Amino acid sequence: MTEDRSFLFLLGSARAGGNTEMLARRAAKELPRRVKQRWIRTSELPLAPFVDRKHDGEDFVPPAGNERALFDATMAATDLVIASPVYWYSVSASVKLYFDHWAAWLDQPELRFKEQMRGKTLWGVSALAEQPEQAEPLIGTLRKTAGYLGMHWGGQLLGNGSRPGDVLLDEDALKAAETFFAGADLVRA
Ligand SMILES: Cc1cc2nc3c(=O)[nH]c(=O)nc-3n(C[C@H](O)[C@H](O)[C@H](O)COP(=O)(O)O)c2cc1C
Repeated sequence: MTEDRSFLFLLGSARAGGNTEMLARRAAKELPRRVKQRWIRTSELPLAPFVDRKHDGEDFVPPAGNERALFDATMAATDLVIASPVYWYSVSASVKLYFDHWAAWLDQPELRFKEQMRGKTLWGVSALAEQPEQAEPLIGTLRKTAGYLGMHWGGQLLGNGSRPGDVLLDEDALKAAETFFAGADLVRA
């Protein structure tokens, strides 16, 4: 039996149509048509501030509203693409908040979050204005998060730019985008 892959692109920029999104869309163009794509802007499904309830003796509140929508979209995907600009060397605040909510999902056994995350693939796509080295903490965050959840690490696509559209002048990034997802074995046995 084979199962086609389903990609969730999480757009974490604090603006629409920026360099990260352009680069992610360029890479996604190469995905075969049978591979499902879902695109979500974190700004369109804002999450409540994260509250750490792990040790307060209260019951966890199961995800509802935007949090539920993000949970369901995450569960439905085989591949999660974190398309976050580099903000202060790391992921944007809205992406970090999404990851913080994972901590609560992990603590609710009935959600079976960890079991369902295992075996999915995590990818990163990011634009940044300065040198690529500035993305090292971001890449480390994504790689370690993938490892913690037993996910595969797909890799990181980086592009340079400040103003929206700058990344379209980064020829190396555009070339890398063409084959970024090509390494994935896009049908699972
Ligand atoms: C809050 C903030 C923090 C940033 N931090 C960095 C940084 O640490 N390193 C860097 O190279 N660029 C940094 N930048 C520049 C952005 O990465 C760059 O403008 C990028 O193109 C934004 O992506 P977007 O067009 O997808 O929104 C920062 C921009 C903002 C708004």
